[in-house]
Amino acid sequence: MSYVAILGATGDIGIELANTYASHGHAVMVIGRNTAAAKTLSKQLMAQYPIKSMHLTLDVNDTGAIKVFKRDIQQLDIKGVVSVVGYLGDQQKAESSDQETQLIINTNFSSLTFVIQVFSQYFKTKKSGFFAIITSVAGDRGKKSNYTYGAAKAGLSTYLSGLRNQLSGLNIPLTEIKLGYVKTKMSQDKQISKYLSAEPKEIAQLIYKNQQKNKNIVYLPLKWYWIMKVIKSIPEFVFKKINL
Ligand SMILES: NC(=O)c1ccc[n+]([C@@H]2O[C@H](COP(=O)([O-])OP(=O)(O)OC[C@H]3O[C@@H](n4cnc5c(N)ncnc54)[C@H](OP(=O)(O)O)[C@@H]3O)[C@@H](O)[C@H]2O)c1
Repeated sequence: MSYVAILGATGDIGIELANTYASHGHAVMVIGRNTAAAKTLSKQLMAQYPIKSMHLTLDVNDTGAIKVFKRDIQQLDIKGVVSVVGYLGDQQKAESSDQETQLIINTNFSSLTFVIQVFSQYFKTKKSGFFAIITSVAGDRGKKSNYTYGAAKAGLSTYLSGLRNQLSGLNIPLTEIKLGYVKTKMSQDKQISKYLSAEPKEIAQLIYKNQQKNKNIVYLPLKWYWIMKVIKSIPEFVFKKINL
C-alpha cells in the first residue's frame, strides 16, 4: 500500500486535501502535530472512502521528533508528499519578540526544510516520489503587515527551486503552489474582498490537479499570477509608500 503523505493535514486546506486524495482512490498518510486530530481525520477518510489511511504525529519544530520520524518512515511505502504546513504569526509581535520571529521563520522555512530533506533522501533511495509544497504569494514581495512570514515563504521558494533542479534528473517532480487568500482560520481575522479569497475545497481540488500534472510553479487561484505580476512591477520608491 503506497501512501500520499499529507503534512499539516489537520488544517483547513489540509483536511480538504486529504479528502480530495482519498476521493481519487489514494491511500492517505495523515501527518499532523495534533495526534488526536490526525487520528480522527484518518478514521473519517477510511469510513468515507474505500481507501487505507494511517496517521503519524510530527511537530516540524521538534528536531528530536524529526529524527524519530525519519527512522519510522523507512518502514513505510510513501509515493509522494504534500505539505500544507504554515504559520502566519503576528508581525507586530515578531518585531519585539525573538520567539515569535523564530517560530514564523522555523515553521515556514528552516524546520520545514529539515522535514522536506528527510522525504527527499527517502525518495532518492526509492528512486521515485513527488512533492507538492504550499508556499504563498506573500513570498513574492515583502509588505509591512507580514514581512517575516513573507521572507520565510520566499526562502522556502528558493530552497524548492534548487531541490526541483536537483530532483529533475531523478524524475521526482516538485510542484510549488503559491497561494493567494483562502478562507481558513489563518486568514479569518483579515478583511478580504470576496473576489480575492477562495474556498479551501476549491483550492484543494486545484492543488490535486496541478500536482497530478507535475507542474513546476503554480499560482492558485490563477488570477494571483497576474496580481503579483503587477505588484512586483511597482517601483520600490512607490511600493514603500503603499499601505499593504
Ligand atoms: N489561508 C490563506 O489565506 C493562505 C494564503 C497563502 C498561503 N497559505 C498557506 O497555506 C498553508 C495552509 O494554511 P491554512 O490556511 O490551511 O491554515 P491552517 O489551517 O492554520 O493550516 C496550517 C497547518 O500547518 C500546521 N502547522 C503549523 N505549525 C506546525 C508545526 N510546528 N508542526 C506541524 N504542523 C504545523 C497546522 O497544524 P494544526 O492543525 O495543528 O494547527 C495546520 O495543519 C500554509 O502553508 C499557509 O502558509 C494560506
